[in-house]
Amino acid sequence: MSDSVAQPQRMRKIPPVALALLLQLLAFVLVTLAANLLTLTLSPYTFAIACGALAATFSHLTKQARWWLPIQLLFVPALAITLNTNIPPIVFLFAFLLMLLLYWSTFRTQVPLYLSSNKVWQALETQLPVDQPFSFIDLGSGIGGVLTHLSRTHPQGTFHGVETAPLPFAWSWLRIKFGGYRNCHVYWRSLWDCDLAQYDVAFAYLSPVPMAALWEKVQKEMHPGSLFISNTFTVADHPPQKILQTDDLHHSELYLWRK
Ligand SMILES: C[S@@+](CC[C@H](N)C(=O)[O-])C[C@H]1O[C@@H](n2cnc3c(N)ncnc32)[C@H](O)[C@@H]1O
Repeated sequence: MSDSVAQPQRMRKIPPVALALLLQLLAFVLVTLAANLLTLTLSPYTFAIACGALAATFSHLTKQARWWLPIQLLFVPALAITLNTNIPPIVFLFAFLLMLLLYWSTFRTQVPLYLSSNKVWQALETQLPVDQPFSFIDLGSGIGGVLTHLSRTHPQGTFHGVETAPLPFAWSWLRIKFGGYRNCHVYWRSLWDCDLAQYDVAFAYLSPVPMAALWEKVQKEMHPGSLFISNTFTVADHPPQKILQTDDLHHSELYLWRK
């Protein structure tokens, strides 16, 4: 399975997490060199704080998103504190495996797992055909909440989801299989490998990063009369034809484009 098939070139630049790591390494090397040159004996915590401060400065200079700054600042100090505790290494292995299975290629796609609210599900309901069969796809279907909800409210529809992260995929697959949702299907597949021509409605709740590429895909593949709906993230230079406001915690908005 590949995430990159049919994915435009512009998305294949260095992922921010790789840049952040490189900046940490650079800060580590520079602080080590400076301490040696100036024959300073730094305590582990002073060394860690110096590395963090320098890495955060580099992140600022390389124009990383603002939220990287506290991460960069606290990463090495947190590492120093953790190494000073007696937590068994196996705990870190399990935590790493859990994160890996839950988030999978988020470091590259920049689309983490977070879930649409019930209010968003209800707003989606109002946009689906009432009396006729139709096909719907959730691009990045998470744990399957959107699909299972809509398949109950619209039994005449067929609902598909694609998801790349193993744990959310497995969860949604089990949920659908044992919940008896016969008009619902999920696939362990990248959304970039789906042919959108088969669907009357495509829904996405991703992040700002893939929206321009996804718009191109929608334009190329979806048939006239089909509907594209994005939760929260809009498409630059392509204002939606309709906006639905919800009163959930984040005041999520649904953006709709009919082809
Ligand atoms: C913000 S969550 C949305 C979950 C669900 N659609 C909802 O609205 O509750 C985005 C999901 O997209 C998945 N994802 C990210 N990139 C993907 C890709 N290229 N193909 C399929 N799924 C992807 C992530 O693993 C994550 O579970």
